[in-house]
Amino acid sequence: MNQVTGTSINRKDGRAKVTGQATYAAEHQIPGLVHGYLVTATIACGKIKSIDTQEAEKAPGVIGVFTHKNPPPVSKPANDFMASKIYEARLPLSDDQIYYAGQIVGLVVADTLERARHAAHLVQIEYVTQEPALDPSKVAYKKALSLFGQEMKFEKGDVTQGMADAAVKVAATYTTSTELHAQMEPHAIIAHWQDTDTLTVYEPSQWVIGSQRTYAELFQLPPEKVRIITPFLGGGFGSKAFPWPHAILCASAARQLQLPLKVVLSRRQLTANAGHRSETKQMINLGANADGSLIVIDHTAKSFTSPVEDFTEPCTGVTPTMYAAPNLHLDQELGVMNVGTPTFMRAPGENPGLWALESAMDELAWELKIDPVELRLRNETKEHQQNGLPFSAKGFAECLRVGVEQFGWQDRPKQVRSVTRDGKLIGWGMAASNFPALQGAASVTARLLADGTVQLLTSGNDMGTGAYTIVAGTAAEVLGLPAEKIRVELGDSLLPNGGMAGGSQMTATLVPAVMAACKELLKTAQANTIQSALDNLHQSGKPAFEATASSAPGDGGKKWTFQSWGAHFCEVSIDEEIARLRIERWVSVMNIGRVMNAKTAASQIRGAVIMGIGQALMEECHFDPNIGYPVVYDLASYHFPSHADIPRIQVTFVGEPDYKFNPAGVRGVGEIGITGVSAAIANAVYHGTGKRIRNLPITPDKLL
Ligand code: MOS
Repeated sequence: MNQVTGTSINRKDGRAKVTGQATYAAEHQIPGLVHGYLVTATIACGKIKSIDTQEAEKAPGVIGVFTHKNPPPVSKPANDFMASKIYEARLPLSDDQIYYAGQIVGLVVADTLERARHAAHLVQIEYVTQEPALDPSKVAYKKALSLFGQEMKFEKGDVTQGMADAAVKVAATYTTSTELHAQMEPHAIIAHWQDTDTLTVYEPSQWVIGSQRTYAELFQLPPEKVRIITPFLGGGFGSKAFPWPHAILCASAARQLQLPLKVVLSRRQLTANAGHRSETKQMINLGANADGSLIVIDHTAKSFTSPVEDFTEPCTGVTPTMYAAPNLHLDQELGVMNVGTPTFMRAPGENPGLWALESAMDELAWELKIDPVELRLRNETKEHQQNGLPFSAKGFAECLRVGVEQFGWQDRPKQVRSVTRDGKLIGWGMAASNFPALQGAASVTARLLADGTVQLLTSGNDMGTGAYTIVAGTAAEVLGLPAEKIRVELGDSLLPNGGMAGGSQMTATLVPAVMAACKELLKTAQANTIQSALDNLHQSGKPAFEATASSAPGDGGKKWTFQSWGAHFCEVSIDEEIARLRIERWVSVMNIGRVMNAKTAASQIRGAVIMGIGQALMEECHFDPNIGYPVVYDLASYHFPSHADIPRIQVTFVGEPDYKFNPAGVRGVGEIGITGVSAAIANAVYHGTGKRIRNLPITPDKLL
C-alpha cells in the first residue's frame, strides 16, 4: 500500500472552485425557469388583518402570488430528527399568525427575478400588532430537551454541600450573542417537477437522503420520486441539513404552477428565515480543594427559540466529558422569543458550553494560583462523568503538553498586566477543545473503467470540508493508484446512501465504506491489484467492474465514549488607549484519531479558529427592540473576521488512530476547532489587562 492518507493531497474540487466550474444550487440552468421572491412580515408578533395582492398580480411578468389565503398544498411530515425533519414545525403560509419579524407571508412568482421582487413589494398587508417577547428577563421559559428529546437535567452528588466544603470557588455568569451562519452561499432552491409526482430539487443540502425523505413526505410521494442534487455547498455550518420554510414553499408552488421555480433568500431574509445560533446565558459554579482538584461543577444554561419550533442550544452537554468532579449538576431552560427559529451552528452546545466552562476554569486557576494547564491536567477524567463510560482514546494531556512546548507557554509571566510590547499590553491564554466523535451508516459504489480510472459514488455531501479529497485519497491508498486516477461523485440522492454531513461525521462515515468498496471491487475483478483488475477488465470486454459496500457504526458505543480532544493557545495584544485588540499568535493541537489528509484537516481547524475569533470579538446580531427584526441587513452589517484580523494559525495533530471507533481509526474533524477559541481569547485578555470579560463578543467598548 502506498501511503496517501495522512499526507496532503490537494483538493479534488479545488480547480473547479477557483475556475467557477463548481455549480451551486442557484446556478443550475433549467430551461423555462421562473423566479420567486418572498414577501416577509414587518412585525414580530400579531396577525395579518388584510392582505391585498391585486397590484402584485397585475404587475408585468407575474405568474402567481401565494399567501395564507391560497397556500400551495403540502402535507405535514413526521418531522422527527433523522427521519423527515423540517427546521420549523409550522408549515409556511399555514395561517394568518405572525410569530417573528421576517416570517414568510407570501411568495410572488414571475418570469424574472427583478419582476418578482418588484411585484413582491406591491403586496399590501395590514397587521394587528402585539408586543413581541424579546427581553430574556420577561419571556416565558420551558424545560429544555436535547436534540434527541431527552431531558437535559442531571445531578450527582450534592452540589450545595460541595460548594460549602470547597476551599476555592468561582461563581460567574457568561453570555454569548445571537450569531448568524453568514455562509458565502445563501440559501437557495430550484424545484423542478417533471409532472405532479416527480420532483428534482437543487438545493444546498448537508444531507440529500434526509432531504429526499422529507420532500417525499411533504408531497406524499415514494422517496424514489424525489431527487436531491447538491454537488457543492458554499458553507452549511448546520443550517443546511433540512428544508426551511422557503424551500417547502418553493417546491409546493412549483408543483402548483408546474414550472421550474427558483427562490434565493436575500441576505436580509437569511437573518430570519434560515436559522441562527441563539444567544446564551450560562451560570457556572466551580468548587475546588486547595490543591486544585474539583469537587463541584454546576453548569446551568438558558437559550432561546421561536414560538414555532423548539431548538435548544445544548450548552451543558459537553460538561460531563471535561473534568472529574464528584458533585455535578447540569440543567437548561429554553426561553421563547418572537425571533426566527434558531438551529445547529458549528459545534452547537459545545461551543458556547466551553466558552463558559473554560473561562471559569481560568478564573479558578487564578484563584488557586495554579497554572491553567496544570489545573486542567489535575482534573482530567478518564470517563464520561454522566454515563460512566471510559473514553476510547484521550490524548488531552498530550495536546496540552505539545501546545505548551510549541507556544512556549512555560515562559508565561505569572502576573496580569506584566508584559508590554510597542506600548501594547500582551496577554497569553489557553483553553480546551472537545467534540464528540460521530459516525453514520454509508454505502459506496466503486467502479473501475476501461481507461484505468476508478469512480467512487455516494450521496454523502462535501460541505466544502474536503469529502471529495478524503474519498479520493482513501481509494487511492487502498487501490494503489494515484489520486488523479480517482473520480468522486457526491451529493446526489440517486447515488448510494452516504449519510449526513453534520456533527463532523462525514469522514468517519465515508472512509470505512470507501475502504470496503475498494476491496470489494478487487474481489469482483478477481484480482489482487488494480493493475491485474484492469487486465481482467480488458480481457472480459466489459465496460466496467463495479462493487458496492456498506459500513455502519459498531456497538462500541455501549462500552466507550467516543470523543476528540484539543487545546488552543493564543497571544493577544491590547492597545488600551484605543481599545484595539489583536490576535498575535495561535497554536492549536488536536487529537482527532487518524488524520486522513493533513492539509484539509489543518484547514478545517484554521477555518474553525477564524470563526471562533469572529464569535469572540465581532459577531453579534441584535434584534430591534421595537420591531424584532435582526439589525443586520447584509454581510457588511454583520462583522466577522477578514484576513487582516487573523494571525498565522499553527495546527498540529497528535494521538493515534482510534480503532475502537471504526476500522479506519478516524474520528473526523471540523467542529472541534471552534470549541474553546473564545475562552482562550478572553483568558488571554485577562492575562494582558486584568479585565475579565464574560460577555461575548469582546468589542472595544468592553475593553475601554
Ligand atoms: Mo454541524 S452544526 O452538525 O452542520
